[in-house]
Amino acid sequence: MHDMKVVIDAGQIQARVKELAAEIETRFEGEPLVLVCVLKGAFIFFADLVRHLSCCPELDFIRLASYGADKESSGKVLFSKDMEVPVKGKHVVVVEDIVDTGRSMRYLEKVLAEREPRTVSICALVDKHERREVEVEVDFPGFRLKKGFIVGYGMDYAEKYRELPGIYEIIS
Ligand code: IMP
Ligand code: MG
Repeated sequence: MHDMKVVIDAGQIQARVKELAAEIETRFEGEPLVLVCVLKGAFIFFADLVRHLSCCPELDFIRLASYGADKESSGKVLFSKDMEVPVKGKHVVVVEDIVDTGRSMRYLEKVLAEREPRTVSICALVDKHERREVEVEVDFPGFRLKKGFIVGYGMDYAEKYRELPGIYEIIS
């Protein structure tokens, strides 16, 4: 077990997730919408977010791998599970846990744009905007954090701590 301190508690997360769902709903009301969960880190966020949406988004899952068992990005991005729902002519909202350097989302935006969606936006639980290395805008940011390695609410360190209900920073 690592030493950790709570950064955002479960209650704060739930309140913000509800607001994000309302923002997404207002933006795309009455239009074809696909929400894409980026596995694995976004799985809990996605499950909570979609349950606040009323009418009929299509849901899908993809898997990217940019981090190994370490805390630093390798800079390489792999696309290991693709979408199954066609996105042509639809609004796509990519639901991600964290946007850090921006490399993963930049890659995904490029791949998705080739499939002619109406729009592609990014919803991220945490936007570490000060660590950006490539230009990526988070359209629906949950929380903005500056630094620190965080876990919980779906996010892991070497596949551990995803089950924690709040967001914690690993201190050592
Ligand atoms: P990026 O390509 O550098 O933006 O990498 C983003 C991905 O790195 C996220 O989807 C996470 O999976 C992972 N990541 C970045 N920072 C953290 C962190 O603090 N905790 C857990 N995973 C992280
Ligand atoms: Mg991730």
